[in-house]
Amino acid sequence: MGTIISPSVLSADFSNLERDVKLLNESNADWIHIDIMDGQFVPNISFGLPVMKAIHTHAQKPLDVHLMIATPDDYLEDFKNAGAEILTVHYEACPHLHRTLQRIKTLGMKTGVALNPHTPIDLLKNIIQDIDLVLIMSVNPGFGGQKFIPETLNKVRELKTLINNSGSSTLIEIDGGVNLETGKKLVDAGADALVAGSFVFGSDNPKETITQLSTL
Ligand code: DX5
Ligand code: ZN
Repeated sequence: MGTIISPSVLSADFSNLERDVKLLNESNADWIHIDIMDGQFVPNISFGLPVMKAIHTHAQKPLDVHLMIATPDDYLEDFKNAGAEILTVHYEACPHLHRTLQRIKTLGMKTGVALNPHTPIDLLKNIIQDIDLVLIMSVNPGFGGQKFIPETLNKVRELKTLINNSGSSTLIEIDGGVNLETGKKLVDAGADALVAGSFVFGSDNPKETITQLSTL
């Protein structure tokens, strides 16, 4: 099995969303990454539930939803109803993370926890068993097209050790500044899944780019 690839529609053409989602359906992408930003948790607003529902109408791959919002607890059920299969909340936005994850599970979704670049891996030590996916941010969340932060590679190795020691089957996903060069280093360090936005949609042949990433 190759690397799981989750292209981010944040870099798609919003006036041709149906076309771009169909492109992802026909590609070797495994998931479709949905970036929800509220202008509070991050200094940018992307799109919300109605647009996500429209994407879900056309998507033939699981929606991998990344909530960059200040109060995710208020919207868990709404995102289930909008088609989320994996629901990732930020560690920094969840004072009662254990409860949040139990609710995501009860709603029938996979649990994801995202960490900002400065947030240490250690903080997940006592909750790793409840997490299906850890999303390590390799840029500061809020915008596509930013430069990869190299310290991420150490975090991936640390998380891999934590997961192996715990015996859990948590997946490691990385988000931000992923291209063929950084992607290769991440996979070598232990990443299972890569998010890529601008590198995929900014390329001449997005489908081919997805295939190249998936074989890293
Ligand atoms: C950033 C988002 C990312 C973004 C990645 O806050 O979480 O998912 O779309 O974009 P690239 O791949 O262009 O860095
Ligand atoms: Zn994201």
